[in-house]
Amino acid sequence: MPMPMPMSRHVIALSAAVCLAAGLAAAPASAEPRPRTLGELAKKHHKYFGSATDNPEFTDAAYLKLLGSEFGQTTPGNAMKWYATEPAPGVFDFTAGDEVVAFAKAHHQKVRGHTLVWHSQLPAWLTERSWTAAELRPVLKNHIQKVARHYKGKVIHWDVVNEAFNEDGTYRESVFYKTLGPGYIADALRWAHEADPHAKLYLNDYNVDGIGPKSDAYYRLIKQLKADGVPVEGFGIQGHLALQYGFPADVKQNMQRFADLGVEVAVTELDIRMNLPATPSMLATQATWYADYVKACLEVRKCVGVTIWDYTDKYSWIPSVFPGEGAALPYDENLAPKPAYHAIRKVLGG
Ligand code: XIL
Repeated sequence: MPMPMPMSRHVIALSAAVCLAAGLAAAPASAEPRPRTLGELAKKHHKYFGSATDNPEFTDAAYLKLLGSEFGQTTPGNAMKWYATEPAPGVFDFTAGDEVVAFAKAHHQKVRGHTLVWHSQLPAWLTERSWTAAELRPVLKNHIQKVARHYKGKVIHWDVVNEAFNEDGTYRESVFYKTLGPGYIADALRWAHEADPHAKLYLNDYNVDGIGPKSDAYYRLIKQLKADGVPVEGFGIQGHLALQYGFPADVKQNMQRFADLGVEVAVTELDIRMNLPATPSMLATQATWYADYVKACLEVRKCVGVTIWDYTDKYSWIPSVFPGEGAALPYDENLAPKPAYHAIRKVLGG
């Protein structure tokens, strides 16, 4: 008696394919491909979409889950500022910044370094005494280079100088300007470049969304820095908007004129606040503004990405700094997406 033939490989493969096809046809909705995240959608346009974060939030698991899954980039909201990184003269502490960088690495996110030179959130040891230029120069250089060296290879950008101008386009009278003169900006950029030649070096400010005296001051400064061979490579537009002040005019044209100077542009701290309580109509306007702002970036090739200044109203900085205002971010206090989230998705092609 011939032995019964074992089922041929062919038959096995065929029946597996039939089962698979049948299985797929009957697949429940839950097996549908997962919707693309904001980060993934932006990537299709060769841009990133990111969110700032802050260390106290790292104990909130639900928050971290969304931060790590939805966004392709993050910026430490406070961890890399001077008060945090050099709490005593010459004493550096990278604990908080390292925590953000480790999270970003684990979730394949880019990191923007924020910020090396700023008039605000300085340590008391720096603000509570007077300085001569000869004293302050080496302190500034050492700070910039120690921090930039520590994060070398870990950040794509540095906001080297933050908020250098007043609204009328004159230089802000920070301790750095008053002590060292306007040349502190070029020096800071050169020192940062020495420490991390691969990070793109940015100047960053608010109320520079459209064309006006403050953005004009940056336009002139960046043009001059470029002419002098100073390593400036990006203009950061914070984008802290408020419904009551109206949507800025010429956002796209403003981005484009910086791009035409030969620098890239990034939207670095976008949020859109409103007077509380938020109404459905205010949230609808907010959604349109988010979409219009993101669209402007999509339409300028050298606009490299958009970062929102955290993603949930639960952790927004707005209520503490602008009393009576808030609801500024695309997710509400319970981490549920708001109309703004859906509007951003749509404009990104989701
Ligand atoms: C804000 C932080 O979000 C707050 O937590 C902190 O108390 C104050 O600073 N422009 C900037 C950011 O460049 O560094 C600021 O961040 C918001 C305005």
